[in-house]
Amino acid sequence: MKKTIAIIGTGYVGLTTAALLSNAGFTVYTVDINKEKIDTIKTGKSYFYEAGLNEFVKKGVELGTLLPTTSVEEAVPQADIVFSCVGTPDKPDGSSDLTQIYAAAESVVKHAKEGLIFVQKSTVPVGTGKAVREHMRSTRPDVSVHYISNPEFLAEGSAVYDTLHFDRLVVGGEDNEAVQEVVTVFHELTRFAKSIDASEYAEYAAFYNGKLFNDDPQIITTNLESAELIKVTANAFLALKISFANSIALLCDTSGADISQVMHGVGGDRRIGKSFLYAGLGWGGGCFPKDVSGLLAVGQSHGVQLPIMESAVEVNQGMPEYAVEKLAQEAGNLPEKTIAILGLSFKPGTSDVRRSQSIKLANMLAQIAKEVRAFDPQAMEEAREHTDEEVLFTGTLEECIEGADVVVLATEWKEFIEYDWTSVQDKLKGTILLDARNRLDKDAITAAGMRYVGIGR
Ligand code: UGA
Repeated sequence: MKKTIAIIGTGYVGLTTAALLSNAGFTVYTVDINKEKIDTIKTGKSYFYEAGLNEFVKKGVELGTLLPTTSVEEAVPQADIVFSCVGTPDKPDGSSDLTQIYAAAESVVKHAKEGLIFVQKSTVPVGTGKAVREHMRSTRPDVSVHYISNPEFLAEGSAVYDTLHFDRLVVGGEDNEAVQEVVTVFHELTRFAKSIDASEYAEYAAFYNGKLFNDDPQIITTNLESAELIKVTANAFLALKISFANSIALLCDTSGADISQVMHGVGGDRRIGKSFLYAGLGWGGGCFPKDVSGLLAVGQSHGVQLPIMESAVEVNQGMPEYAVEKLAQEAGNLPEKTIAILGLSFKPGTSDVRRSQSIKLANMLAQIAKEVRAFDPQAMEEAREHTDEEVLFTGTLEECIEGADVVVLATEWKEFIEYDWTSVQDKLKGTILLDARNRLDKDAITAAGMRYVGIGR
C-alpha cells in the first residue's frame, strides 16, 4: 500500500507537490493554518494562479486522495512521511527567518508516529537541518523521527511541469532507509508522469504542447548539509548568470554589439548553456533575492565573504534604473510622456509579484512620466498593493497602449510576445517599444513602424 503523506504549507511548492502526489495514488493531507486558502482548495482549485495546477487539485479532491485541512492534529498522526513546505522569508539584515520552519517542525513532531520521515523541502541555510533535528528530538525524546533534506527546484510558472519532469532529485540525510523511502515517492511520481492521459489533464497537456515524457532523472543522495547548500548555491548561480549577462548588456549598448546575439553565441558552448542568460530588468520573485541574501548572511556567519554574489546583487538592483536612463535617452523628455507597462508579475506564467523588477520599473516611471498605465494578464490584483497609486491599471493590452508614447514590455507574457504588433501599426507609428526582457523580434517591431529599444541591443 502506498504511503500516507502530509504536506505542511500550501504555497507553490506545497500545493503543487500535494496535488501531484495525490494524483499519483498517495493519500495526501495538504495542511495550512490559513482557513481561507484551505477552503478554496477544498472547492477543487488553487488560490493562486499557476499554469496547469487547477486540474490536478480538482482531480485530487474528487478522488478523495487530496485532503485539505487546517489541522495538523488530523493529518500528521496518519502520515508516514511529512513534507515541510513553509516560507523562509528574509529578515531586514538579509538572513533567513526560520520562525515557520521551527513552528512546523514542532507541531509535526508533537503528533508524529514512531518512525515518521520528516522531509524538509523549504529552502533553509546550511546547518538548519541538524539544529531542527535536535530541536525535534528534545521536544519528543520518545519517538524517533528521520530528518531528510529534499530541496525543491521547481520554478513558478512551470511548477507542474518541473515537479513531474524533474532533472534531478536531491535527497540528503543520514538514515539510508529513510532516504530510499523518499526516492521511492518520486519514482512513483515519475511513473505517474509517464502515464498521464492528456485528455484528463487537458490544460496541462496543452500548456506543454503534449510533451508529457521525460528521461530518467538523476538521483543524487548526499549528507544533510550538502543537500541544503546545493539548493541555495543553484539559485545563487542562476542569479549570477543573469547578472553577468546584464553586465555584458551594458557593454553591448556602448559598443554596438547585440546581447541576444552575444549570449546565443556564448551559450552555444555546452559547458555554459543558453539558459538564464537573458539580459533585461534582472531577477526578482520569492526565491533568488532572499536566497542570495541568505547565502551572503550564512557566509558571513561562517567568516566567508562572497564578493561575487554582492556584485550580482548590485548589478541586479541597478537594472530598472538603467532601463529608465535608457528610456530617457531614447524618448527625450519623460515628464511629457505617457508610458504603457506590459507585465507586472516577476515572471510570466504566475500571478506572483514579490520583488518584481517590473513593478519597481513601473513605480520609478510613475515618479517621472506624465502618465503610467499598466496591464498584466494575471497579476493585477496582487500588483495593486505593491504599485504606486499613480500607476493606472487597464483592463486590456489595447487599452493600455492606446495613445502611449512609449510601450514597455516589462514581463514577457506569451500573449505580449505573440501579439500581432502590425495590428496596431497605425496607432503606434513612431512609438518607442522598450523590450525590457529582450524577447521581442526586433525586425518585426521595426517593420510595424515602432522604434525598438532593448537592453543591450
Ligand atoms: C527559481 C529557480 O529557477 C528554481 O529552480 C527554484 O526552485 C526556485 O527559484 C525556488 O527557489 O523556489 P523562480 O524564482 O520561480 O525559480 O523563477 P526563475 O525562472 O528562476 O526566474 C527568476 C527571475 O530571474 C525572474 O525574475 C526572471 O524574470 C529572471 N530571469 C530568468 C532573467 O532575468 N533572465 C533569465 O535568463 C532567466
